[in-house]
Amino acid sequence: SANIVEQAKRTAAFAAVDKHVDSSVRVLGIGSGSTVVYAAERLLELKNEGKLHPDLLCVPTSFQSKQLIVDAGLRAVDLDDLPVLDAASASFASIDVTIDGADEVDSELNAIKGGGGAHLREKLVANASRKLVLIADSRKDSETLGTKWEKGIPVEVSPLAWRTIKRQLERLVPQSRAQSAALASSAAFSFANPKAELRQAVRKAGPVVTDNGNFILDVAVGSIYDPLSVEQLIKMIPGVIEVGIFSGMAKEAWFGNEDGSIVCRV
Ligand code: A5P
Repeated sequence: SANIVEQAKRTAAFAAVDKHVDSSVRVLGIGSGSTVVYAAERLLELKNEGKLHPDLLCVPTSFQSKQLIVDAGLRAVDLDDLPVLDAASASFASIDVTIDGADEVDSELNAIKGGGGAHLREKLVANASRKLVLIADSRKDSETLGTKWEKGIPVEVSPLAWRTIKRQLERLVPQSRAQSAALASSAAFSFANPKAELRQAVRKAGPVVTDNGNFILDVAVGSIYDPLSVEQLIKMIPGVIEVGIFSGMAKEAWFGNEDGSIVCRV
């Protein structure tokens, strides 16, 4: 039932926060969606127990995420407003760890994200993080992307050209691979005719408008055999702002099972 799924999300979120957030963490990225709400609940508990860094900075990935941070009494700072703590570092990453949800995670930790329309900022924050940790219930644990999340890949696009981009996406061919010529005989995804739907708002006539003022096309391509190629192919289309495929970004994923147990994939 819904309650058991919520418990599973909560268990995964608590375990991930407990493993990764202690007083040594100075900058923390906070994802978006319904599972991250439980991560924020645990952060508030840790804060009240005095177990967080006293000057912890939290980087939001959406309007919703910023409210979670503020409601937990934590300090929200936009990605590019972070103070430069170690200018000499070899890495450009300014965030210690980011905890975020996902819509589907495959056996190699590639993920589909953006079911909540927040994947542009989620990817910017993930990219600036030394560690991306995903949290979800086990319904999202998948061998191959596209087999469990069937609504399609969320693609944030410029409203100036959404119809042109939609037509272009619907003409992508499965055999296309942005990557490896050696693999050119096998398909990057399974559908011969991908379907791209403009995401519609609920309780408002017209399309979803993202936090960034853009539209979202949900692109159903069937099974995604080569996430990096599909991500690159879609990203190449002019007017595509960000693709909800996160290839090779996550270091770890925590899945809560309905029986109360947890699986951590690394
Ligand atoms: C937001 O755009 C998404 O990327 C979320 O991270 C994802 O949809 C997970 O949300 P839930 O935790 O609500 O399933």
